[in-house]
Amino acid sequence: MNIDIDRGIKEIPHYPKALAYGDSDGWVRLASNENPYPPSKAVLEAILDALFGITRYPGGEFELKQSIAKKFGIKAEQVVLGDGSDEVIEMILKASRHKEKKGVIITEPAFAFYSIASKIYGYNVKMVPLKNMKVDLDDIKDAIDANTRIIFLNNPLNPTGTIFKENEFEDFIKDIPSNIIVAVDEAYGEFVTDRDFPQSLRYIDDHPVLILKTFSKAYALAGLRIGYCIGEASLISYLERTRQPFSINSIALVAARAALSDEDYLKAILENNTREKAFYYRAFHNLSLEYIPTEANFILVKIGKDAESITKRLFEEKILVRWMGAYGLPEYIRVTIGRPEENKRFMEALIRIIK
Ligand SMILES: Cc1ncc(COP(=O)(O)O)c(C=O)c1O
Repeated sequence: MNIDIDRGIKEIPHYPKALAYGDSDGWVRLASNENPYPPSKAVLEAILDALFGITRYPGGEFELKQSIAKKFGIKAEQVVLGDGSDEVIEMILKASRHKEKKGVIITEPAFAFYSIASKIYGYNVKMVPLKNMKVDLDDIKDAIDANTRIIFLNNPLNPTGTIFKENEFEDFIKDIPSNIIVAVDEAYGEFVTDRDFPQSLRYIDDHPVLILKTFSKAYALAGLRIGYCIGEASLISYLERTRQPFSINSIALVAARAALSDEDYLKAILENNTREKAFYYRAFHNLSLEYIPTEANFILVKIGKDAESITKRLFEEKILVRWMGAYGLPEYIRVTIGRPEENKRFMEALIRIIK
């Protein structure tokens, strides 16, 4: 069709979605870092209840903000909700619109949507390579120029599972000019066990630091699409203004509240992750495969030059993992830590294929 579309839009790649095969027909889904277990019973009951309310526009945003605020010891005005943290990423880009400053800094590799969304909203993206598979905050600082408006950090980092630590972040943030927004995406923050993980809430009063979190991972609500952002109240209110009035559906709102209330569920999920992480470490070690120790619910492992074809062979056995070619790491795959039986099925298939 002969229609004039902006070149910047034409050049945006499609988001690399994993194929959505159901859980029920024998697929092992270890490609998208989802929670391998169903949501908590409290969540399922709340969803059933909420179904009767779908004739009305969604309510309950304030109640959910209050629950989040209580959990973190902050005020409800310091929370904005989003249709997944993907929408929060968009809100940050929309609210930060600036006549001259159109620069976004991200790491390379990084979660794909930072650069896709930045391009949609007309920003220029500067990528800063990792050092030894870790984010180097000094390099990020060096990349700042007169046009920089937003820095997207992700801690732990998808796809490596590595973190930057409290002292590194403290050093970094004190030198960042106050008109640059630092978005710290902690989508996998619940899984972290390292005690030096930054307490990012400490920074939100004195710096334009925005912390992104989601119910898609540890809380098992990826399909409902709900995430949130915490920051200083006036900054949060600007984000809120850029949001569609009812972007979060009524089922997601009640499900998220119920999810927060069920601490035993979260504990069990984190225990599974820790135990199964150890299973993977042992198995990769026995196969002499290099892996990156992870603070998240996925592991990046170096398979070698056959990584892509091995991913395809696994797919033929109904096992989905992510080949990292699109992240500039063609010798690697990223595997989500699943349920014990899923992890075992993946490892057995991998061993068979490699040998
Ligand atoms: C680092 C990171 N941020 C954000 C998201 C998106 O999360 P949500 O489902 O809340 O939109 C993902 C999803 O994989 C992710 O890996």
